[in-house]
Amino acid sequence: MSLPPVKVLFDENRIAARNKELASEIAGAGFENLLVVAVLKGSFVFAADLLRAMHASGMAPEMEFVHLSSYRDAQVSSGQVTILRDVESDVRGRDVLLVDDILESGRTLAFAKDLLMARGARTVKVCVLLEKPGKRAVQIDADYVGFMTPDVFVVGYGMDVAHAFRQLPFIGHIEQLD
Ligand code: IMP
Ligand code: MG
Repeated sequence: MSLPPVKVLFDENRIAARNKELASEIAGAGFENLLVVAVLKGSFVFAADLLRAMHASGMAPEMEFVHLSSYRDAQVSSGQVTILRDVESDVRGRDVLLVDDILESGRTLAFAKDLLMARGARTVKVCVLLEKPGKRAVQIDADYVGFMTPDVFVVGYGMDVAHAFRQLPFIGHIEQLD
C-alpha cells in the first residue's frame, strides 16, 4: 500500500509544550467537579495527552467519551451530526470540558454543547487541538485552542483520512487532499 507523503505542521515537541500550557490554563479556570468529555474518534490522542498534562497541573478530572459522527469517510462534512455512542455520566450540575480535534464548521461541537447544556450541565467549555478560522457554519467559539491551522487537510496525532494516519506522533498535512 502506498500512502501519500505527509508534511509536518506541528511536531511532537511543539504539541507537548502546548498541551502543558493548555492544562495550566484549564487548571487556573476554577472548574469544580470537572468532567472531561472527549469527542471520538479524532480527539483520542490529544485527549489522552491533555488529561495527563492536567494531572501534572494538579487536576483530577473525571473522563468520559462521546462518539459523534458528521464526516464518515468523506472529507466534506455532511452537515448532520449523529450520536454513535453517548456519555454514561449524569452531567446535571457539573462543569464539563468538551475536547475535540478540530473546530471547523462548528456543527459537531455546537451539537455536543447544546446536548450537554440541555441535560443540565452547569457549564460546558470547549477545548480543541486545532481551529480552522473562517470556516464556521454555526456560531460557536472554543474556550481553549491548541493551534490555529490554515485551511488544509490535516492528519496524524489521532486525526485520519479514511482511518489512516492516526498513528503519526505529529500533526501533518497531505497536500494532494486539499
Ligand atoms: P465540524 O463539525 O465541521 O466543526 O467538523 C469538525 C470535525 O471534522 C473534526 O472533529 C474532524 O473529525 C473533522 N475534520 C475537519 N477537518 C479535518 C481535517 O483537516 N482532517 C481530518 N479531519 C477533519
Ligand atoms: Mg471529530
